Amino acid sequence: MNLKSPFRTRTTALFYFAATASLCLQGVLAVKKEDFKTCEQAAFCRRHRAFADAIVQASQSTISKGSSSNLAVPSSASPYIITSKSVHLEGHTLVATILHDTDKVPLKLEVIFLADGTVRIRLQEENPLIPRFDETQKHVLRDEGNTLEYASADSIGYSSETAGQSVVHTVCYTKEGNNFAVRLTEFPWSLAYMQDNKVVIEINHNGFFNFEHLRTKPDTSETNGVEGEWEETFRSWTDSKPRGPESFGVDIRFNGYDHVYGIPEHSASLSLKNTRGDKDGYGEPYRLWNLDVFEYELDSPMALYGSIPFMVAHNPNSTVGVFWLNAAETWVDVTREKSSTLSSLFRLSGSSKEQAVNTHWISESGIMDVFLMPGPSVSDLYKQYTALVESTPLPREFALGYHQCRWNYIDQDDVLAVSDKMHEHNIPYDVIWLDIEYTDGKRYFTWDSNNFPDPVAMQKQLSHDGHKLVVVIDPHIKHDSAYYVWKEGNEKEYFIKNKAKTDNYQGWCWPGESNWVDYLDSNAMEWTSGLYHLDKFNGSTTDLFVWNDMNEPSIFNGPEITIERDLKHYGGWEHRDLHNIYGMLYHKATYNGLRTRESPNKRPFVLSRAYFAGSQRYGAIWTGDNAASWDHLHASVRMVLSNNIAGMHFSGADVGGFFGNPEPELLTRWYQLGIWYPFFRAHAHIDTKRREPWVAGEPYLSIMREAILERYRMLPHWYTLFRETSLTGMPIARPMWMEFPKDTGLFAEERAFMVGSSIMVVPSTDPDISKPIDVAFPSKENWYDMHTYTSYFAPTKRQFTIDLAQTLVFVRGGSIIPTRERQRRASALMKYDPFTLYVYVSRDGTATGKLYLDDGETYDYEEGAFIERELLFVDSRLSSRPSAHTVETSAQRIFLEKMKKVRVERVVIVGLRSPLTRATVTEGDVVREIELSCGGSKASSECVVRDPAVLVSNDWEIAFS
Ligand code: NOJ
Repeated sequence: MNLKSPFRTRTTALFYFAATASLCLQGVLAVKKEDFKTCEQAAFCRRHRAFADAIVQASQSTISKGSSSNLAVPSSASPYIITSKSVHLEGHTLVATILHDTDKVPLKLEVIFLADGTVRIRLQEENPLIPRFDETQKHVLRDEGNTLEYASADSIGYSSETAGQSVVHTVCYTKEGNNFAVRLTEFPWSLAYMQDNKVVIEINHNGFFNFEHLRTKPDTSETNGVEGEWEETFRSWTDSKPRGPESFGVDIRFNGYDHVYGIPEHSASLSLKNTRGDKDGYGEPYRLWNLDVFEYELDSPMALYGSIPFMVAHNPNSTVGVFWLNAAETWVDVTREKSSTLSSLFRLSGSSKEQAVNTHWISESGIMDVFLMPGPSVSDLYKQYTALVESTPLPREFALGYHQCRWNYIDQDDVLAVSDKMHEHNIPYDVIWLDIEYTDGKRYFTWDSNNFPDPVAMQKQLSHDGHKLVVVIDPHIKHDSAYYVWKEGNEKEYFIKNKAKTDNYQGWCWPGESNWVDYLDSNAMEWTSGLYHLDKFNGSTTDLFVWNDMNEPSIFNGPEITIERDLKHYGGWEHRDLHNIYGMLYHKATYNGLRTRESPNKRPFVLSRAYFAGSQRYGAIWTGDNAASWDHLHASVRMVLSNNIAGMHFSGADVGGFFGNPEPELLTRWYQLGIWYPFFRAHAHIDTKRREPWVAGEPYLSIMREAILERYRMLPHWYTLFRETSLTGMPIARPMWMEFPKDTGLFAEERAFMVGSSIMVVPSTDPDISKPIDVAFPSKENWYDMHTYTSYFAPTKRQFTIDLAQTLVFVRGGSIIPTRERQRRASALMKYDPFTLYVYVSRDGTATGKLYLDDGETYDYEEGAFIERELLFVDSRLSSRPSAHTVETSAQRIFLEKMKKVRVERVVIVGLRSPLTRATVTEGDVVREIELSCGGSKASSECVVRDPAVLVSNDWEIAFS
């Protein structure tokens, strides 16, 4: 590490942490807030908040003058109106012109109706002086937005009528029994999205719509930079703002809701707190601007590494969503109107009693492009969102195993020694990771030849035991004319240029002076992908996978530790327009590189730190540099849940905490929770002590091993969950409310969570082990302790005091969970292992489940090469049938042939009211009696079928009596 570099303060701080015991970590960790802007310091945010305040004030004075307006009527203080007679329907689009009462620059509003009930609202100048950035859709939407399904013209009914001073235009349509309508009001303009005649989402209800149209720079010096419109300075950086002000903001109201979620990445509460006018809320809006925030603080709306502008509102009757498709800096204020109080800051008058969440979205540039999704069920909502941005594709199966990482494993011997130790201690793992030090001087795609003289031999050795290697490849490219990657990038002119366009933009990161590729240029993207090909990346094999870090991008000597926003990209776009998708484009280039490095293609695995909506298509993400503290352990749940809510399913937090040295209890508890993150990786800072699971000794080693083994036993279930998600877009780690949407007591729950729809995890996140943990068992169902089978009859609340070896994991009655119980070194070695099926009987004596398997690595499953079984327990019969997706193809036949000996070796039925005495298997024409043993208490018993020996690919039934 170069201590002479400008990031010296950063590294000095890092060293400081080496000496810091984790117990005092909480007190020591402190984000340098002054490095990052507040809304007040971001001129456009400041202007929009001030605009909103002025509207509120103006409205209040109108009200006090006796206006009859109420909450059902939009604010009449808004200076914007829809021009008379401009509204018309063009096929599936309602078009209108919006005008500001003084500047008179016409804005074009398009309200586009999609077939599934989603409404898209696009808004920009009718004749912009220069084009606005509108390429975000190309990079984010499914098929670049070209294959969106629009409502057919004949399913749309359109009418308009005069209401008071205004004309109101209504478009109605019906989709699968749900009636939707959009009501567009001319004066003042607002758009209400209605379900069954009730307004659920409203745009510009509060009149905060404010659109800074593009303009020529005024000559008068007093306008320059006064409000940060034409130039803006933050600390020592000046943003030249050549295009002047071009931001826009609008309020979006969720009518009848009290809870909103999503818009990661923040360390904020799961149910998003208010950001204005609430002493218990945050004083700042939620910020979306991908940043490397060193020592990020918890419970804060500050921006972090990723940005997904997707917000979900939920009440007991419906779940709706808003997707704000914009890659520029965005701030979101959240306030609430309670049904019974009259004091909300943004309440414009007092007659309505309906509760609502008011949000105020503010973006610096681009066009206003917003999708309103009607739900109304959680699964409907994710269908609608997935139709826009796709879901997480099926990952490589090994990626669901355990990842062993640290900064750094020093050399080849170290890597192999760690691997051997894992074997010695009977701890399965799939992947070992190398952080930046494996390279030759942070020149990615190269190896430090002293420490890694034969990386191929090392990978072969790992592969021999079923393991993979992940190496970090960061986006900064060391400025070194002898480095082939730099040389090629420079010759091909793929680097982002400096402001004067005279040379490459240069910044500091791990290697010192570096350059960054301009991924807006598709040739540069393709070139980057090519760097991963086996003939190009010396020392790589097909068992090497990639970690993209620092891709916000992180630039140690840049404003807010990132790149300047007035730098120009390919096509003349400024960085400000696309900052939040920059990291995703890099992630995509890596994904494409790995995908195409072998033929036939195999599924890549790429972890990224920065992300946007759509990143889920390219791999996993993690929550960045957390700390070894109990608070961070606790916060990891809500952060992973928020990512899942926003469609970034494959996410996890550094197990153990990145900074600091966790005491063994904390580390153990982190493993016990980490096995329930969709992405399960232990990672640690370079200055921390070694902390692989065996280091702390007993009893910790055995407990951590047991947790990891639990992850491995559950892999068939995890893989099946990922399969489901790839088809439905449903979160994998789910907040409780998602599974129990009517249970208002769970709407703010951020400790207990669900993995899929069957498993409730209640992590122990308190250092005081004697402190009882409250568990609420929702619904009217049985819940079973996954380890003891003890059952709890819900709804009920219990308190548990557990020792370090115990965890609180409960399975919902009515579930069937497939597992594989042979202990192996890695998931690859479990490929042909038999299955165990756990049947957790519901109150009415039934259960259902699924089992999906394929080769875990190729795309043959797209040709039908998979086994997908519907498992059903009803009338004391357990049966396995093919799922509706199953198709007979030659690819399927080849796969079935490979799997022909894979069987179910055990069935455990939990929660039977009385023990069974006989089990008869029917498989094809063969009928057999099989061994059965039952035990348990009087109230509930469990029965085990030792070896039904039914094949996993066959139809079969086991009848019990
Ligand atoms: C920052 C990442 O967040 C961390 O995980 C990594 O270890 C360091 N960069 C070094 O690469």
